[in-house]
Amino acid sequence: MSSLNKKFPRLLPTPITPGMKASDLIDGAFKAYNGGRLAEACRLLTQKMLANNGTVGLSLTGALTPAGLGRAAIVPLMKAGFVDWIISTGANLYHDLHFGLGMHLFAGSPFLDDVVLRKDGVIRIYDVLFDYDVLLDTDAFVRQVIQGKEFQKTMGTDEFHYRLGKYVYEREVQLGLHETSMLSAAYQYGVPVFTSSPGDSSIGMNVAAMSMRGSKLQMDVNRDVNQTAAIVYDAKSSGQTSSVFILGGGSPKNFMLQTEPQIQEVMGIEERGHDYFLQCTDARPDTGGLSGATPAEAVSWGKIDPDTLPDCVVCYADSTITLPMLTAYALDRVEPRPLKRLYKRRDAMLEAIRSQYLKHGTVEKIEHRTDLSSSAKKKAPAAKKGRSGRSVTGTARAKQKAVPAGQQKAAKR
Ligand SMILES: NC(=O)c1ccc[n+]([C@@H]2O[C@H](COP(=O)([O-])OP(=O)(O)OC[C@H]3O[C@@H](n4cnc5c(N)ncnc54)[C@H](O)[C@@H]3O)[C@@H](O)[C@H]2O)c1
Repeated sequence: MSSLNKKFPRLLPTPITPGMKASDLIDGAFKAYNGGRLAEACRLLTQKMLANNGTVGLSLTGALTPAGLGRAAIVPLMKAGFVDWIISTGANLYHDLHFGLGMHLFAGSPFLDDVVLRKDGVIRIYDVLFDYDVLLDTDAFVRQVIQGKEFQKTMGTDEFHYRLGKYVYEREVQLGLHETSMLSAAYQYGVPVFTSSPGDSSIGMNVAAMSMRGSKLQMDVNRDVNQTAAIVYDAKSSGQTSSVFILGGGSPKNFMLQTEPQIQEVMGIEERGHDYFLQCTDARPDTGGLSGATPAEAVSWGKIDPDTLPDCVVCYADSTITLPMLTAYALDRVEPRPLKRLYKRRDAMLEAIRSQYLKHGTVEKIEHRTDLSSSAKKKAPAAKKGRSGRSVTGTARAKQKAVPAGQQKAAKR
């Protein structure tokens, strides 16, 4: 007999029974192909990414909120403290507003006559249907809100979404709605929400139009780039893991991953990459596009720590299937975590990375790079206190790598 039994578990599923929990179904019957990857993704999320108070960033692309996944999955994940920060397409944030404003979307069909729909004033996103008035009323809400004095300035998109979320929350309360909107939940739970392309959605379109009426609202994309890097640096420099949970791909995927090269390559601060990478997508790797780029490719850019690459998972399946499954699994297998409320610490986190950058960065070419050799690993820094106050040792110590460049052995490119 070969040594297979020493390396791999036997493929022996549990028979499916009536009333089986989603988590038991995944562990017992999702054994191969993308079912197997989804089961691995569930275990990665619950056993590694959420362990030891690790920081989890969620990136969203694809039409997820129109399909109801904001209310069904993303809000429960935020409430349980399983998602600490978010980068989303503007579209997902815009369509999230409909739910918070009590508007109605309908589970229709993809096989309708679009010319007839157009005549009837009906909008279609594949099989999701809603009245054109939903768009017009949501646009009017955005324009109304951003006329307020607090919006007459330049701000990061996290601040913009926090302030907008407050008005969605107030509308939910007026309407007697509860936990319907991602933006409202993010406001309540202090989860920073960024968008990587602020002009590329109906929210951005309304912000742009209002600038022609004298609105002073502008998005500070530089702050967003530095603020997202600051969140990652804050986790890594306090001995926690930083994980990326990617749904789809697109610009939000890169915006989340580029935080590491921003810290290492541009700011010159010693770091080794995000610890865990979980992606659910339909994008293929062989076109060279970022959406389909694998965690292994991300390692070559310093985006992912090579040591944790074997744990990374890509599941090639539709997020409307994987996200509810991952959410049900996580809520069943992991106790809710204390909310990190990173939004409240945004200025302090930004100041921390700024001071490290000014100490170790340069305008000239940075003449060092992270030493990834195994000897560098052996010279891991001595145990130090994590934010919890507990001593960080063992595997966690190996992850304690966000040490300023000057304090580690430098190697030329
Ligand atoms: N009215 C609006 O505000 C509006 C509406 C639609 C799109 N947009 C904008 O258009 C841009 C494109 O948005 P997008 O989200 O459709 O991105 P996209 O179509 O570029 O998708 C990004 C990646 O995610 C993958 N993907 C998409 N749906 C998926 C799913 N269900 N499961 C798994 N993988 C999936 C795609 O294959 C791709 O690799 C965004 O910037 C968005 O803001 C705006």
